[in-house]
Amino acid sequence: MSEEIKRKIEELTDKINHYNHQYYIEHNSEISDFEFDHLLNELIQFEKEHPDLADANSPTKRVGGDITKKFETVVHQYPMLSLSNTYSEAEIRDWETRVKKAVGGNLSYVCELKYDGVAIGIRYENGELVRAVTRGDGTQGEDVTNNVKTIRTIPLKLKGDFPDSFEIRGEIFFPLNEFNKLNEEREKNGEALFANPRNTASGTLKLQDSKIVAERGLDCFLYGIYGDDLPIDNHYNSILKAKDWGFKVPDVQQRYVENTDSIEGIMDFVQYWDQQRKNLPFEIDGVVIKVNEYDQQQDLGFTAKSPRWAIAYKFKAEQASAKLESVTYQVGRTGAITPVANLSPVSLGGTTVKRASLHNADQIQKLDLHLEDTVYVEKGGEIIPKIVGVNLGLRLEKAKPIQFIEHCPECDTALVRFDGEAQHYCPNYTGCPPQITGKMVHFIARKAMNIDGLGTETIEQLFREKMVASAADLYFLTFDQLISLERLGEKSANNLLESIEQSKFIPFERVLFALGIRHVGETVAKKIAKKLKNIDAIAQASFDDLVAIDEVGEKIALSIQQYFSNETNREIIARLKTAGLQMEIEEKELASAVFLGKSFVVSGVFTAFSRPELKKLIEDNGGKNVSSISSKTDFVLAGENMGPAKLEKAKSLGIPIISENDFKEMLGL
Ligand code: IVH
Repeated sequence: MSEEIKRKIEELTDKINHYNHQYYIEHNSEISDFEFDHLLNELIQFEKEHPDLADANSPTKRVGGDITKKFETVVHQYPMLSLSNTYSEAEIRDWETRVKKAVGGNLSYVCELKYDGVAIGIRYENGELVRAVTRGDGTQGEDVTNNVKTIRTIPLKLKGDFPDSFEIRGEIFFPLNEFNKLNEEREKNGEALFANPRNTASGTLKLQDSKIVAERGLDCFLYGIYGDDLPIDNHYNSILKAKDWGFKVPDVQQRYVENTDSIEGIMDFVQYWDQQRKNLPFEIDGVVIKVNEYDQQQDLGFTAKSPRWAIAYKFKAEQASAKLESVTYQVGRTGAITPVANLSPVSLGGTTVKRASLHNADQIQKLDLHLEDTVYVEKGGEIIPKIVGVNLGLRLEKAKPIQFIEHCPECDTALVRFDGEAQHYCPNYTGCPPQITGKMVHFIARKAMNIDGLGTETIEQLFREKMVASAADLYFLTFDQLISLERLGEKSANNLLESIEQSKFIPFERVLFALGIRHVGETVAKKIAKKLKNIDAIAQASFDDLVAIDEVGEKIALSIQQYFSNETNREIIARLKTAGLQMEIEEKELASAVFLGKSFVVSGVFTAFSRPELKKLIEDNGGKNVSSISSKTDFVLAGENMGPAKLEKAKSLGIPIISENDFKEMLGL
């Protein structure tokens, strides 16, 4: 009986997957919606009755239902880099000349659209989708598998001759018709409208309930395959192969992707899409040009952030004109004052713009802004657009010039401006309300103390209720205090307390960053922590000690000294110490120095350990992991199915090839 049901489930699964592919990727309706729903319902019913036989990649996952309570953090096997951007045709020509010079041979390029959505990395093992991870910070992202499985154009099971194990990357985006439909629906229900398709795609992907994701109609284009020993030599063929395996890839006929071997071909593609992008059913913010051949890509390599073998050309931002109604001033967490222009509403790039950032007093002066001026606004990469000019012809005769304020709009303290800086500051750093709450919002951020369940609103509420006056107070909050807050239930209060407790394990360099010392960003905090080791040493460091640290200049050194000279800040730190936060660097202790100075290439499939586990063992014992074999490689750790090309290369260079067992022996495991 069970065998028979299993067969029936498989049969239904294959049928539904086939019709799904035909409909969403080939745009071909082979059966009616009614018949399709009937098949799907039949499968849902079988799975309900026999949950043990339900497949993790069943097409019933498309309708959602799985809830993700917490999106787990996943380290990317291959970092997710970004592209370097150009804004002019001349820069593309320069890039092409550089590439030609570096490679020296014949070159061909692939031109693609730069989809404006959210990057995703999807791993397939033996033809089954196993995990989908967002870009995150490029090194690690979040596991959004349940939600990605609802996107109809992403295959759950592959067809054809696919590699056993690989990752495919692409961009998840909101098709414009789906986005507009969603907003129309929200308008009907009196709900706030979503601002733009990109941010809404990103927000949707992070919804806990995959059913809602399934209803939103997200889509995805795939643009890159990553793995060891792939059966492909160039990017263009990778797209064709991915299509054979069932992926939605950009269409050649519609010129979504094009292969060319000349700069003229590249320019033609750029100009075509600069003109035509307004007619696309999804948003793009430019085009991407990639060197086609993988071996040439490898020769060109990467800078710290992006591949040298690819470049993005960003289209010029759209402009609109609006009336300047007033200028208001915001106070940031460091006391920096940002002027904001309030404008008559104007439509720009599909959204309504009412405000624009003015950056600082110099900007206002440079634009010579007057009240009621007609200004030109432009949308850059940021969400808030900026003012790029004034239509002087329309200036009113008696228009008043905008005068920058002299006192803090929040606490009335006289503003200061430091030598050589464009920004005005409110120097009431520990007493000005938005600075206090702003610092706390920064303190809890993911990259800082990563305290979940506490947003800006709750922090402002806690501050208003006088339950907290600084980040240190968070560590002394009680359950009773928390549930006395409006909108915070028992469960959320407990989760929040747990998250606060967990933050005590956050390493010192992040605590230092979390303090929100002006000009001390993530990287600088790391350098200082590494050099001075603990908070007391930093507090006592002389100006000379500080500027001697890599990446610390005079401005940063002064800011650090100013921070520690403040009594309130010193008290905050003392209380954070009492609370048990990490106030000194944890020197990473190696498990052993067996592999000190040795580099490894790990390739193939292993039995006792997973590949990430092996790589961790290598690092924990002093070794280094490298991705490709060269004469500098010390060992190749080879598992099952290691590609013949790699094996050959290791042999020809005379590099020792060790098995998983040899490796275990070396470590005495
Ligand atoms: S290739 C090493 N191709 O743009 C980088 N990226 O700044 C490989 N993007 O986060 C990326 N369309 O999400 C590539 N056709 C395309 C793209 C594309 C959009 C996004 C991507 C990435 C960002 C790069």
